[in-house]
Amino acid sequence: MADRTFYLTTPIYYVNARPHLGHSYATIAADAMCRYRRLRGDRVYFLTGTDEHGERIAQVAAAAGVTPQAYADEIAGAFRETWQRLGITNDDFIRTTEPRHAKVVQAILQKLYDAGEIYFGEYGGWYCYGCERFYTEKEIVDGKCPDHQTALTFIKEKNYFFRMSKYQGWLIKHLEDNPGFIQPERYRNEVLGFLREPLQDLSISRPKARLTWGIPLPFDDQYVTYVWFDALINYFSALGYPDGALYKEFWPHVEHLIGKDILKPHGVYWPTMLHAAGIPLYRRLDVHGYWTIGGGKMSKSIGNVVEAFELTDKYGHDAFRYFLLREMNFGLDASFSEEAFVGRLNADLANDLGNLVSRATTMIVNFGGGLVPAPGDPAAEDAVVRSALEQAARDVDQAMEEFAFQRALAAIWEFLGVVNRYVDATAPWALAKDPAKRGRLDTVLYTLAEALRAIGILIDAFLPQAAGKIRAAVGAAPPKLSDLAWGRLAPGAAVQKVAALFPRIEAKVSDATPAAGAAAAAAGTRIPVADFAKVELRVAEVLAAERLPKSKKLLKLTVKVGDETRTVVAGIAEQYEPGTLVGRKVVIVANLQPATLMGVESNGMVLAASHENTVSLLTLDKDVPPGSQVK
Ligand code: MSP
Repeated sequence: MADRTFYLTTPIYYVNARPHLGHSYATIAADAMCRYRRLRGDRVYFLTGTDEHGERIAQVAAAAGVTPQAYADEIAGAFRETWQRLGITNDDFIRTTEPRHAKVVQAILQKLYDAGEIYFGEYGGWYCYGCERFYTEKEIVDGKCPDHQTALTFIKEKNYFFRMSKYQGWLIKHLEDNPGFIQPERYRNEVLGFLREPLQDLSISRPKARLTWGIPLPFDDQYVTYVWFDALINYFSALGYPDGALYKEFWPHVEHLIGKDILKPHGVYWPTMLHAAGIPLYRRLDVHGYWTIGGGKMSKSIGNVVEAFELTDKYGHDAFRYFLLREMNFGLDASFSEEAFVGRLNADLANDLGNLVSRATTMIVNFGGGLVPAPGDPAAEDAVVRSALEQAARDVDQAMEEFAFQRALAAIWEFLGVVNRYVDATAPWALAKDPAKRGRLDTVLYTLAEALRAIGILIDAFLPQAAGKIRAAVGAAPPKLSDLAWGRLAPGAAVQKVAALFPRIEAKVSDATPAAGAAAAAAGTRIPVADFAKVELRVAEVLAAERLPKSKKLLKLTVKVGDETRTVVAGIAEQYEPGTLVGRKVVIVANLQPATLMGVESNGMVLAASHENTVSLLTLDKDVPPGSQVK
């Protein structure tokens, strides 16, 4: 990583679906990378945003009975809010409906048109409205779109075309001369594979008669531009192309992080567009695989999407980030399950990391009087810790060069293993019993404090909240990779105990991800009435309410449902004082599988509406007895 300036983009997300697990992975991965580069001291710019034009958006907006702009505003807001809540450190958020974007798209179109790179012609082909593109005969599977498995429509119309075919030879050569242009390598090979077939010219317009929700072509107002032509340009419209200071500083260092589903537009359309417009190409394309759920494709239409909030509210942001980055081998697909998530949380976070931090800080406080002691001469076992740290730092750096988050985390966990074994082998509790071993004890405690300080730096990009707590406990400075150098912690620094950095999660996890149904509904997916009939909604009377000691958000409610009394945990503690709820009648989902939240088994879910920061409980406007059915 010689380049000390870094510009990273995520895909801009379509506003036809609310943010889900797949989007979260891409954004969290980009965030971890940008945080890491900032830790190195690099100049970093990090962009994300939303893709708001096209037929699909117009259709979902119409179905929802609102204008496309109103629809886009709402979902773009949901993305922005999700990233804020997940602590994403993006520098900007671009929306393709912003004038600053449209202006640049039109300028590029005009430039290519004037240069003869765009011409008017006729084309007939099989079109998928879901993908907003034509499919070639070879790509069609059983007469259907290979992605959506829906019937294609034959469309013959006049359109504007970008002379992409003439760049086929150039692009092949570029990929051959620059083996690192697309990584992991399998995706470079996949693009070379596409290029073994003759490249067609790219239809870059849609007649207004068919689609109005797009940016008009500057040279023909009867047409709007094709979504991909519009969307890709966000990557530099956001920097103020062509004269903006950000464009000048960051564009030469751009890398795009994308999912494998959008490899062709980024690996073929985009480089040829840039080349034709005389704009320098991106430095590298970093391609990740797909999350599946239970081995199946995760998609809005299947309705098994997972909203990030549910899991982060339940288990914490850091745990969610950790799981996604550790579990997916960058470039390959991975399978999501709440069981696997909880498994990693308990083993890697609660046990390996949390216990170590708790043990080490407790020993420094108990045996060292709460101050970092001055070390004596290091023994061989101390040197092992130090060299393991140096090794981990090198391995992390190399892994991050390839976006191999899983390897970076594995390298850090190697180091945690060394430190955990060091604690066992040096047994400070035994040294503390023998005054003659005071010097040795001081060296061991110093080594542990230094190891903690290093961990507070090493994990910062991946587990920012935990990293901050660890650094605060040993009084360490703001994190910098250069501070990984051993021995920077001054003896005499005060140390505080850190207990339960990651509390263990009890074994019981419901089979279904609780977010799935809610997410499907929020995303606008229609479900058959039979699906709704599976949900048992009932009136419940609140008999008692109390806060859960360890949680800011959760209340434990004791409710009466018919003749039965049960416990329900509700995330409304920030909006409702427990005392005000007693005696009220609320609506609960009565037939949910039990879930354990902060050690309390919840048997049902209280319904509430939410908008921005307002949460409003569903109550009844006439009195009916508890247990009454709601439908
Ligand atoms: N709007 C286009 C991108 C334009 S970029 C100039 C688009 N948007 S999208 O919302 O459909 O999805 C974009 C990205 O979300 C994917 O490339 C991928 O990074 C991420 N994911 C969506 N579903 C995913 C999974 N199931 N798994 C992993 N990532 C996935 O395409």
